[in-house]
Amino acid sequence: MNYLEESDSEDELPPGWEERVTLDGNVYYANHYKQATQWIHPRSGRKKIVSGDLPADWEKQISDDGKIIYINHTNNITTYTDPRLAFASEYMETSQPTRQRFDGSSTAMSVLHGQDLRGKYALITGANSGIGFETARSLALHGCTVILACRDIKKAKDAIKKIKNENNTTICEILECDLSSLNSVKNAADNFKYRFKTLDILILNAGVFYPPYTLTVDGYELTYQVNYLSQFYLTLLLDHPLRNSDKPRIVIVSSESHRFSSITSVDDLQQFKLSPTASNYWPMSAYNNSKHMNLLFCHELSRRWQHITVLCCHPGNLVYSNIARYSWLLKLLFLIVKPFTKSLQQAASTSVYCATAQELEGNSGLYFNNCHQCDPSNYALDNLLSTKLWTISQEMILNIMKKDKYTNELDFN
Ligand SMILES: NC(=O)c1ccc[n+]([C@@H]2O[C@H](COP(=O)([O-])OP(=O)(O)OC[C@H]3O[C@@H](n4cnc5c(N)ncnc54)[C@H](OP(=O)(O)O)[C@@H]3O)[C@@H](O)[C@H]2O)c1
Repeated sequence: MNYLEESDSEDELPPGWEERVTLDGNVYYANHYKQATQWIHPRSGRKKIVSGDLPADWEKQISDDGKIIYINHTNNITTYTDPRLAFASEYMETSQPTRQRFDGSSTAMSVLHGQDLRGKYALITGANSGIGFETARSLALHGCTVILACRDIKKAKDAIKKIKNENNTTICEILECDLSSLNSVKNAADNFKYRFKTLDILILNAGVFYPPYTLTVDGYELTYQVNYLSQFYLTLLLDHPLRNSDKPRIVIVSSESHRFSSITSVDDLQQFKLSPTASNYWPMSAYNNSKHMNLLFCHELSRRWQHITVLCCHPGNLVYSNIARYSWLLKLLFLIVKPFTKSLQQAASTSVYCATAQELEGNSGLYFNNCHQCDPSNYALDNLLSTKLWTISQEMILNIMKKDKYTNELDFN
């Protein structure tokens, strides 16, 4: 008898097979015809695992005849099948890549479907608007405690109100943080450490695009400081709460536009080039460079902080948000292409996938687009560039913070 009958889905089990899970979360397959079991999926040839707690409302009990049963109290369902099996993920035993579970049309809510993030703490920069808001909303609606790091408290409160209107039991907190000031970043990190002991997920999402030439209070060009330098600094300052987490994740929101960066050699990594003067400023180039620096930071951080899974992602092209606020022409362009681009829910999907997918645990330094790993530019993987950028970023922060007498408190790794 041919057990592997034709199917459109590689995941569909052939007749006579059943998927089960051991107590420690390893998925195995029982063949009722042959009375045999095996670890690998009979059709895809891959292994799977389940992990984490049971989904909300499910409880595990031992039945009168000594078998493990699962009870869903909301729907009054009792079953022998572990409900986490519905969300089993492929297990990467070698460098063999896992199959793509989501794509460019997936939404953040579909990526998180069935996940129970209660007990997890996520801090998201720029969470009051656009992709950051959808990321915060999706994580909060799945039980995660979300800390919205925003510069404008009123906007943050409005964002939380919207989330709470959907589900009043969500837990959202505000952390005031203006990324155009290193002092504000320092205060935000201190405030976070005072209020929370652990940070499981850090999502560096905030960004500006195409602003007129502006110097921050620290004297650096705005795009450079907001999109990169301040978020680099925030990450280093949050080292301890991240270490307190079992499986910490950092997700850095970059962009495909990093491929057009003008930073291609260590000679380009000089203060006056990273933070250009008014006469050298071209907003598009400043943005491309900042997004390239996001990737170099991801690369270097994954080499230095091996206890943390650090991932970088591109949310989507020309996604309609407040990002185009500085130019009416760009606003118009984003509006015209809106019907053909990702929604904000779709744009947030890769961030939440990188923040929560089990199969990515320990695979630090990777870059994702459409919830799938892809190769960044070769320059983004250049060890010399990433190390030099790390050093110069530290120097640029120290130069400012020395003035503010914070020097002794800096603990750069
Ligand atoms: N939209 C796209 O097509 C696209 C494409 C590729 C990559 N991205 C990236 O995706 C990320 C999110 O962008 P988005 O499209 O969601 O844009 P958005 O709606 O403009 O959101 C940007 C967020 O960053 C915050 N922010 C800006 N300056 C800040 C500062 N000085 N301090 C603290 N927060 C600040 C904003 O807060 P305020 O509301 O207070 O200004 C806002 O919450 C960005 O990193 C962007 O580069 C977007």
